[in-house]
Amino acid sequence: MDQEDALILLEKVSKSYGEGENVAPTHVLSEVDLKVSSGQTLAIVGPSGSGKSSLLNILGALDQATSGKVMVAGRDLNACNEAELAAFRRTTIGFVFQSHHLLPQLSVVENVLVPLLAEPSLVTDGSLENRAEQLLDRVGLSHRLDHRPGQLSGGERQRVAVVRALIRQPQLLLADEPTGALDHQASENLGGLLLELNREENMTLVMVTHSRELAERTDKMWVLKGGQLCAP
Ligand SMILES: Nc1ncnc2c1ncn2[C@@H]1O[C@H](COP(=O)(O)OP(=O)(O)OP(=O)(O)O)[C@@H](O)[C@H]1O
Ligand SMILES: [Mg+2]
Repeated sequence: MDQEDALILLEKVSKSYGEGENVAPTHVLSEVDLKVSSGQTLAIVGPSGSGKSSLLNILGALDQATSGKVMVAGRDLNACNEAELAAFRRTTIGFVFQSHHLLPQLSVVENVLVPLLAEPSLVTDGSLENRAEQLLDRVGLSHRLDHRPGQLSGGERQRVAVVRALIRQPQLLLADEPTGALDHQASENLGGLLLELNREENMTLVMVTHSRELAERTDKMWVLKGGQLCAP
């Protein structure tokens, strides 16, 4: 793969928490190298606490690496200022958080449309509301459009969070355990939807999952252990 084809390029990326503080630092990632080409699907598996969420946070510009080079969609994330990072997150990345972070006072459809609020011109474009309803239908939630998160099951909330991450057709979807709260069938369906969208919209997908079954349906799987990405 040429460097130019790589949507994600990590070189010797390390991450420690608590560096310079009065406690012993936690070293989580240790000189991780990673290349992901545009349109590829990647699964990251590994034990709890191995640093999977930390890695996704770095890829999604929610946190900074302690050292190393982080290139995503042609940007050197270590060289960007806050405004550039915010624009990058808004326009390029869809993020499905391990805890879903839905807004309790908004309905399902409103929650899905939240990422568009920063750009009012997009909200008046009815096509995005159609996309919201179509995607909610595809995850089996067309009968829950006006419910609030408090009126949904854990798995239903998780599906709303996935649709919210997809609404802007991100170039890169980072999904942290997107099917963790789902039963086997719902997990298969949602995993299938992510892989379909990867093909339909050429959306690169990096997914943390405990489901080996789902991981095996992606193009590539890495196991994160000892701070490094290892072959399964
Ligand atoms: N903000 C933080 N400050 C200090 N330590 C942190 C912070 N975030 C994560 N850690 C530590 O880094 C390690 C890796 O955490 P991380 O959340 O990346 O693991 P994970 O692989 O996603 O685990 P899980 O499967 O349980 O979600 C853990 O030991 C955790 O305690
Ligand atoms: Mg995690």
